[in-house]
Amino acid sequence: MSNKNLRNYFKKAEKEGWAIGHFNISNLETLKAIFQAAKNLKSPVIIGTSESESGFLGLKQAAALVKSLREENNFPIFLNLDHGKNFLYIKKAVDAGYDMVHFDGSSLPLKKNIKIAKKVVAYAKDKKVLVEGEVGVISGSSTILKKALKIRERDLTNPEEAEVFLKETKVNVLAVNVGTFHGMKASGKNPCIDLERLKEIKKKIGDTPLVLHGGSGTPKQDIKKAVKIGISDIHINTELRVAFTGSLRKVLKGGEIVPYKYMPEVIEKVQKVVEGKIKLFGSSNKI
Ligand code: G3H
Ligand code: ZN
Repeated sequence: MSNKNLRNYFKKAEKEGWAIGHFNISNLETLKAIFQAAKNLKSPVIIGTSESESGFLGLKQAAALVKSLREENNFPIFLNLDHGKNFLYIKKAVDAGYDMVHFDGSSLPLKKNIKIAKKVVAYAKDKKVLVEGEVGVISGSSTILKKALKIRERDLTNPEEAEVFLKETKVNVLAVNVGTFHGMKASGKNPCIDLERLKEIKKKIGDTPLVLHGGSGTPKQDIKKAVKIGISDIHINTELRVAFTGSLRKVLKGGEIVPYKYMPEVIEKVQKVVEGKIKLFGSSNKI
């Protein structure tokens, strides 16, 4: 597995024009669903936990679960701390055995974002942990929104700033805001991706893999085009939460009280969503 590390999968994805799916979890059942989907389709996969999700699950516990699946199955499944904002918490994730940490300093002034990102890179590098930086503010949270969020021009990634950030910090991958937001409209349809801006950013940053956040509800055609332009990692959370909670509500109506009897149906529903995304991102048969 030595060459089957996350760094090499990012390189391969960027070069070949497909994207690795990054799916958030806060419980074992969602992890099972994602792993089963990835295994069925022979796709590398990244599991994400935000500070809140890992706070609920436990940093060490999340790392142990992902590591056990990777080792037992000799399978490329990796773990990322998603939207880490606190340096001490990020350090804890690195120490717990995460494969990658996302430092989200996007709401800070660029200089400060660069300063902390450099500290994160220095700490993570020693432990061979990858770092994702972020330029451009991706708003919202991973839930059903009453109405679409207004994307403010000043929150979109400025290609020149992305170039400066990357040069200064040397993060391994970069999250950008090209018009998506966290969460999903009740209709399931979110606004389109600003593909022209994405092309400009890609021109400036070369072969560094780019990350698209707020993937839920984004039109399929936009995702396909964005992947061709240079998005190598796509984050999905809300659609998994909708599938999980919706089917759980339904199965519980049957009156069953034994979790291992009603959970398989819930897991299957989440798995279907993940399989659809893996096919859309083009990462099947890439392990
Ligand atoms: O970091 C997490 C993601 O960006 C998820 O966004 O909930 O819109 O899929 P989403
Ligand atoms: Zn995100």
